[in-house]
Amino acid sequence: MKVLVTGGAGFIGGETVKRIREQDEQVVIVDNGDMREGSHKPEGDKEVAYYAVDVASKELEDVFAQERPDRVIHLAAQTSVRRSLNHPVEDAQTNILGTVNVLEQCVRYGVQKIVFASSAAVYGNPVHLPIAESHAAEPLSFYGMSKWAGERYIQAFGERYGLGYAILRYANVYGIRERRTGEDGVLTAFVERLLAGLPLDIFGDGRQTRDFIYVKDVADATVHALRTNQNQVLNIGSSTGTSLLEVVDLLKELSGRQLQPQFHPASSGDIGHSILDNGKARDALWWEPRYTLYEGLREMVEFEMEVRKNPLLVERLAYSEASTSVI
Ligand SMILES: NC(=O)c1ccc[n+]([C@@H]2O[C@H](COP(=O)([O-])OP(=O)(O)OC[C@H]3O[C@@H](n4cnc5c(N)ncnc54)[C@H](O)[C@@H]3O)[C@@H](O)[C@H]2O)c1
Repeated sequence: MKVLVTGGAGFIGGETVKRIREQDEQVVIVDNGDMREGSHKPEGDKEVAYYAVDVASKELEDVFAQERPDRVIHLAAQTSVRRSLNHPVEDAQTNILGTVNVLEQCVRYGVQKIVFASSAAVYGNPVHLPIAESHAAEPLSFYGMSKWAGERYIQAFGERYGLGYAILRYANVYGIRERRTGEDGVLTAFVERLLAGLPLDIFGDGRQTRDFIYVKDVADATVHALRTNQNQVLNIGSSTGTSLLEVVDLLKELSGRQLQPQFHPASSGDIGHSILDNGKARDALWWEPRYTLYEGLREMVEFEMEVRKNPLLVERLAYSEASTSVI
């Protein structure tokens, strides 16, 4: 099987490509990011082809014509909630038009199935918790809207052209980020500040809960979804809500340090609680998260400590803007 992964050089994409290669399948990456900054490009692996192409561009068709993939995982996206609010056209260009372009090529070149990275952001402010897939979609940000539009296009292409699909709504994904982007998750920012001996910034009272899911568990679910036959929409989360204050306690336990959070006024538009019900995904994908939050955080802290021993790597660590957005 040949799998084309858009956004394959990114945070979730890098882990996903590793998983597919572990199963000895061929991979084609389409990603227009700066590869020099990332370390995800599997060097020397001849079964991985790489195209620095924008998913919204005409050149995407050349990649499909050349590679003829059997299945597609579509992860490439404008991923910042904040950026979507300041640059809605750019967000829609990549997340809506880019997705429609990918779908058009899938149909034209006979792709059997597409797995799409959607987001808990499509739900907006939850009416009940945990959030099941049947919960109303009322996205609050342009990012949430563009993800929702992508979902609807995929379903329409599925009905009209028989393209198989799995739409995965990821919760807040955390884990080792080898490349820093503008808006990283709150856990990345916490770990960075912890190791720099800086206070952890909390916007609001810290009681807001999020459903944190480790990137390796997300990659596993994504690869499992390649092989299912039914078209479906699935939440990929831990089914557990953890408050930021609880995260601080976990980090205290892990590091043995006394941590004093620094409280700031709540960010406007930040939602109170988000927990995704993962029951449907467990059944449909024969999948369950393997990492507890403690274990995932421990891997992150150990990795970041290693990085800090290497002066060449330290150079590229810029402190990220912390965000608790549901992206
Ligand atoms: N990280 C999370 O918490 C989270 C949560 C929910 C959903 N998602 C979704 O999962 C997917 C992957 O997210 P991530 O966290 O790995 O983000 P990321 O920014 O690390 O990866 C996205 C990749 O897409 C590439 N890309 C962006 N625009 C492109 C374009 N126009 N053409 C080609 N490539 C392009 C980037 O270079 C990057 O490598 C995204 O669709 C995101 O919306 C992520």
